[in-house]
Amino acid sequence: MDGITFGRASLLCTLLLWALQVCSGSVTVKVTPTVEVIKGESASLPCTVTGLPPSSKDIISWYIEDDTRIRVAFRSQGGDGNTDNDSPLSGRVTIGEDFTLTISAVQPSDELSFICQVAGPTASVEATTTLKVFYAPEKPELTRPSSQAISAGESTSSEIGTCVTHNGHPQPRIIWFKDDQPLPEVKDRKEKTYMVPSVVREASNLFTIKSTLYMQPTKADKDSVFQCTVEYSMPGDQIKKKKSDTITINLNYPSETVTFALLNTDPVKEGDNITMKCETDGNPQPEFVFSKEGESRTGKGGKLMLTSVKRSDAGVYKCEALDFDNFEADLTKELTLSVNYIDPMSVTPTGPHFAKLGDAVEMQCKTKASSPHTVQWRKGSEVLSQTGGLSLKEVTYENAGDYVCVGAVPSVPGLTAETHFKLTVTGKPMIEAPAKGEVEKEGDMVTLKCSAFGHPAPQFTWKPQGKESVSLEGSKVVSSLTLPATADVLKDGVTCEASNEHGTDSKAFAVSIVRASPSNEADRADKQQGGSSGVVIAVVVCVLLLLLLVALLYFLNKSGKLPCSKKDKKEVASGEVNNDIVVEMKTEKANEEAGLLNKRPATEQ
Ligand SMILES: *[C@@H]1O[C@H](CO)[C@@H](O)[C@H](O)[C@H]1NC(C)=O
Repeated sequence: MDGITFGRASLLCTLLLWALQVCSGSVTVKVTPTVEVIKGESASLPCTVTGLPPSSKDIISWYIEDDTRIRVAFRSQGGDGNTDNDSPLSGRVTIGEDFTLTISAVQPSDELSFICQVAGPTASVEATTTLKVFYAPEKPELTRPSSQAISAGESTSSEIGTCVTHNGHPQPRIIWFKDDQPLPEVKDRKEKTYMVPSVVREASNLFTIKSTLYMQPTKADKDSVFQCTVEYSMPGDQIKKKKSDTITINLNYPSETVTFALLNTDPVKEGDNITMKCETDGNPQPEFVFSKEGESRTGKGGKLMLTSVKRSDAGVYKCEALDFDNFEADLTKELTLSVNYIDPMSVTPTGPHFAKLGDAVEMQCKTKASSPHTVQWRKGSEVLSQTGGLSLKEVTYENAGDYVCVGAVPSVPGLTAETHFKLTVTGKPMIEAPAKGEVEKEGDMVTLKCSAFGHPAPQFTWKPQGKESVSLEGSKVVSSLTLPATADVLKDGVTCEASNEHGTDSKAFAVSIVRASPSNEADRADKQQGGSSGVVIAVVVCVLLLLLLVALLYFLNKSGKLPCSKKDKKEVASGEVNNDIVVEMKTEKANEEAGLLNKRPATEQ
């Protein structure tokens, strides 16, 4: 046989063998086409072999296929599982009795084709599984370029920002957003807006990706918000996203218009501090120059401040913006400042204010102000007049005192002026209706108050005199007198006389004994009763003493110790004497009673 014939024969043989196998339909291998796993976790790659005779010598092996095939594990039916030590997976794989290949701590580099093969006397079949490894990237970081501001309207594109996201698998994607709208991905650097991407495969085989955005921003982009998002895959065909923080751009653009305004909200009045602010629509703010009617004024940071303004500060102020990027534009503005004022109040007639009792008083109060104003006369809390005039027909002492004239500009809160003056009413003294003096009994001290109007201040004279003190109560002069309530005082009262150069007034003060309170009265009644019973007791004691004396005399007489004669003794022995003594006694007692009785008629006389 020549070579060709042999080759044909062998091909035929092979075909026959294959046909035999297929026809016998005996051996098949089934795997899961794709197995997905998160990096670091374990992956199970099942391999189901059917139709193999129980005692076959066939070997079931797992291979990885990159450029070449490398066996990682194998086992025969009923035999032990073996792993290959020289494969990239050695130490991390096991093959189960059901030929399932288990890989622990899966790495991105394990993302390969895995082939489960049955080879031996009865069969030669295989099936391929693809292992997919996933890992979520970190939150993207968005940074602005370190260079300064970007100028609007330039003809070349400027870097807006760089977005970086670390450690994803498989390779994620960066999407740019401007004001929440996604920007189409453009890599052509001839475009106005484009992105420059880059990918780094880390030692871990994870992907770090970066994208830098370039644009030609216009003034409209001054407030635009930029953001980037990383879009990545996870097992089960999931697409996930992580968003970066946002950035804005530091955009420079020329001033086109200028505004000049007063920051004070209330109408300006003299004494106020004011601020005028000048501002343009450009960025950054240019320098400003202030002036008032040709005279330059010093401002700071676009603000012109005036402290404690005066009416002379009113006028036309000018602000000029010096924007070197835009010389063509007219960047000046004017502001008219008005300062409200009120002059001090003036009262006519001027000078000290004296009025004679009963005279008429006419006063005028007026002022000048920048706007219509009101004038009010007040005394205490009472409003006397809403016009400038104050008119008192016949002044009384009550009209004396402090008056205020207040001017106000209703359209300007807080703009007021006022003046005070004192009205003195001159005239003869007038004593107020006197209060009665009261004492409990004659001889007690009593205090009397005599209060008198009058100007000049009246002098007081009291009759009778006592201890006097003088004080001022408003426009009254008060003299207080303390003296004992003698019988004369109780009878005739006390007279207070007040006098000054205009005349004299006098008033009598009555002083009387007042009935004391009921408890005192009872006391006194008790004392009176005690007095009369005392007299009775005295009489009884006298009678008893007399009886004792008589008894003593009688006893001495009987015992003869008395230096009397025998005759006396004899007489005493008789009953007559006895009777005499009794009679005498009776007379004595009668005299005593007569005395008591005679007393009353005497006092009645
Ligand atoms: C005005 O400013 C001065 C100093 O800056 C301050 O002392 C004063 O109290 C201010 N006056 C008012 C009315 O705010």
